[in-house]
Amino acid sequence: MENTAINFQELTELALQARERAYVPYSHFAVGAALLCKDGTVYQGCNIENAAYPATNCAERTAFFKAVSEGRRDFAAIAVAGGPAGEAPAAFCPPCGVCRQVMREFCGADFAIVLSDGGKIQAYTLGELLPCSFGPENL
Ligand code: THU
Repeated sequence: MENTAINFQELTELALQARERAYVPYSHFAVGAALLCKDGTVYQGCNIENAAYPATNCAERTAFFKAVSEGRRDFAAIAVAGGPAGEAPAAFCPPCGVCRQVMREFCGADFAIVLSDGGKIQAYTLGELLPCSFGPENL
């Protein structure tokens, strides 16, 4: 990211830190996210499960809802890392469809989605992961 002080590796480290706070008594699958605003501010999120399973919130949406509820709408990138709780991530954890749609509400097609398997990093754009999407301008 040329116009921000943080790089994708550092953003991933913040996602891994957030992952430590995941509340996952049912799936035991812990996910962390770190959402980068265009001014360099980062909002972290983890998945928060619920005994009534559909009430679960993904890590990505936790980060977005924290940021938007604080008045932010200016996002550059999100890093995501997930895997079995208590273990280091060993595979990439792409955002679910609901989270992609939430990103679509606030971000352009160039918004960066950064995945880590604990070693390598893969970077995509929202346009790549949610093509031909429905957004605010369609209403
Ligand atoms: N989960 C996330 O937090 N983010 C993703 O990108 C995929 C799935 C969570 C939801 C649930 O708590 C657990 O992972 C298993 O689906």
